[in-house]
Amino acid sequence: MEIIILATPAVVARTAADVIEQQVRRGPTVLGLATGSTPLHTYLELIERHREDGLSFSQTQAFLLDEYVGLPTAHPQSYHSVIRAEFTGKVDFRPGSVHGLNGMADNAEAEASEYESHILAAGGVDIQILGIGTDGHLGFNEPMSSLSSRTRIKTLTHQTRQDNARFFTHVDEVPNHVLTQGLGTIREARHLLLLATGNAKAEAVAAAVEGPVAAICPASALQLHPHVSVLVDEAAASQLAHREYYSDTYGRKPAWQGL
Ligand code: PGA
Repeated sequence: MEIIILATPAVVARTAADVIEQQVRRGPTVLGLATGSTPLHTYLELIERHREDGLSFSQTQAFLLDEYVGLPTAHPQSYHSVIRAEFTGKVDFRPGSVHGLNGMADNAEAEASEYESHILAAGGVDIQILGIGTDGHLGFNEPMSSLSSRTRIKTLTHQTRQDNARFFTHVDEVPNHVLTQGLGTIREARHLLLLATGNAKAEAVAAAVEGPVAAICPASALQLHPHVSVLVDEAAASQLAHREYYSDTYGRKPAWQGL
């Protein structure tokens, strides 16, 4: 696990966009996309590179991490709609190449297992973008999620519903249930890119990165993965005990190595 402490959220976004751009320019790519506020700057950076530098997503497929249960695809807060509005609809993904879970599926278990098959059939995820919840969730894998879990239905914590209430007119409108890729599913992506910015994430980042691997902090599952880049700004890094070591290591990293 490589922990990279960067000066500002803008540098976090540029660094994440660099990793994604390199992969996408290399050829057909499968991206794992997260919604939420944190990756927004990265998506804006990629949109700009698409417009200014010809970065094309026409050979890229994308899979969303999660979806609210009970929101139709067309609902403005469904993650289908959100990702289209914030990123995929503003670049040149081919029709049908952005995949998400159906939160209205009658049979959630069948939906979840079909989604897993679909990811496998696409060849697996090359780069998975991840945010982290203030309660340590990854995707919508809330505390006590099995570190080996697969895509399934989950119940949101009160804290997550409060955190996400800003996207709805009232907290009571935030769905109670979600479909989410499991921690075992996420861990099969070849490169995990965790983004975290701001003080509110500092405690969760410290627990995920320096705490024990434990279901109480789902993001600690990252420690089991062979290729993880944790991109944090100074504020999100503020509770890391070994900040100096991470910065020193990154400062002396050979340029050819990349992330
Ligand atoms: P945020 O959400 O980026 O909106 O803070 C992150 C998450 O809940 O995973």
